[in-house]
Amino acid sequence: MRARAWSPDSWRAMPIRQVPDYPDQARLRAMEEKVARFPPLVFAGEADRLKAHLARAGDGSTFVLQGGDCAESFAEFHANTIRDTYRVLLQMAVVLTFGASLPVVKLGRMAGQFAKPRSSDTEMVGDVTLPSYRGDIINGPDFTAEARIPDPGRMEFAYLQSAATLNLLRAFSTGGYADLHEVHRWNLDFAARSPLAGRYEDLAQRIDETLRFMGACGMSDLPQVRETEFYTSHESLLLHFEEALTRQPSTHPGKYYACSAHFLWIGDRTRQPDGAHVEFMRGIANPIGMKVGPSMEADELVRLTEILNPANEKGRLTLISRMGADQVEAKLPPLLRAVKKAGRNVVWLCDPMHGNGVKAGAYKTRSFDAILNEVKRFFDCHAAEGTIPGGVHVEMTGQNVTECLGGARRLSEADLSANYATFCDPRLNAEQSLELAFLIAEELKARRPGSQVPAQAAQ
Ligand code: PEP
Ligand code: CO
Repeated sequence: MRARAWSPDSWRAMPIRQVPDYPDQARLRAMEEKVARFPPLVFAGEADRLKAHLARAGDGSTFVLQGGDCAESFAEFHANTIRDTYRVLLQMAVVLTFGASLPVVKLGRMAGQFAKPRSSDTEMVGDVTLPSYRGDIINGPDFTAEARIPDPGRMEFAYLQSAATLNLLRAFSTGGYADLHEVHRWNLDFAARSPLAGRYEDLAQRIDETLRFMGACGMSDLPQVRETEFYTSHESLLLHFEEALTRQPSTHPGKYYACSAHFLWIGDRTRQPDGAHVEFMRGIANPIGMKVGPSMEADELVRLTEILNPANEKGRLTLISRMGADQVEAKLPPLLRAVKKAGRNVVWLCDPMHGNGVKAGAYKTRSFDAILNEVKRFFDCHAAEGTIPGGVHVEMTGQNVTECLGGARRLSEADLSANYATFCDPRLNAEQSLELAFLIAEELKARRPGSQVPAQAAQ
């Protein structure tokens, strides 16, 4: 049935979920035409390079760190916000690389993460009901009837914010900010106040020592030390926008790339095998992801891997498990087994955020313990099935927010109101992110073949 021809707009003939109901279709079409004239944000060759890195993650020789905001926002568009999230990702990557002796693929949920699927079409406050906020590329977060009207004009600013964010990320990555010689400086801001700062400083000292040794051997100017590769990703939800940025590069004849980011994923609510989102994603040549939640059945998953990666290409398809700490042991192993038995090449990531949401009074939150537990159990499931845990996918920020409970500073429900700033789901703050990286590095180290450290001792 899927042998049918694909085109960037073939999704329009399929049933679709989670799309905004634009009241002004003529304005929508005009905006799509405008975005279609904008330059691509990424180059196809970069997406291919990321795909090659992901292929290695599928074999266990690299580890993927995917992270960033649940939803980027127009209001928080600021160089410091971008820098701080980027910096924590660098710190996490260094902890993982050094701790686990594995190269880390850095993939930001950044520079385009603007469209949000919602579990309910409406939101009620008191006795007022309004359409839900769907992300800044669609409507506004304010609880007013006007703000909640889907506005195609928002696509233009989302594009511009993505372009400027990506520009800064590229500048940081190759212009000296990400130079490993700066590893101490990444820590400056929270060095004095974090219980984890000492631990990070120890690691930075050891990296310094290694760099001095490499320098003495004439190797400290290697691009691997001076620069880093950083890729961008977001949920491919607003297909009008994604289609407008889908291009056929002259360098890659016959192929279409979604040029809004290097990597796009399909959310857990829009992964119907016959739905519009799967249709769009099957035809683009980028590396892609799909969220896999507790309602996924094994045969459906195998079918989706065939639709989304018919050539069974390594690095093409990443499955992002988001089961929840208490369900992962029951739900994940049958899926791991089925995918392995069918011989499908995939990269498995763990998203320990989206299955662990809880309510604390008026706040949506997540506990650090549940997040950590899901990651540990994800590793356990892979160890038991002989499959490869390829990385993690987290919602985090470089800001000192109070959105998730627990962590080294033991944030409590009473602390949540201090700085609860997210536009959507609760994020790990800088310190909780770093703590998670240390714990994952220990897990990875303990589980390496030939490791002397028994898994239990790695606490
Ligand atoms: C998300 O990643 O922000 C998200 C909505 O995830 P999921 O599709 O897994 O619920
Ligand atoms: Co989220």
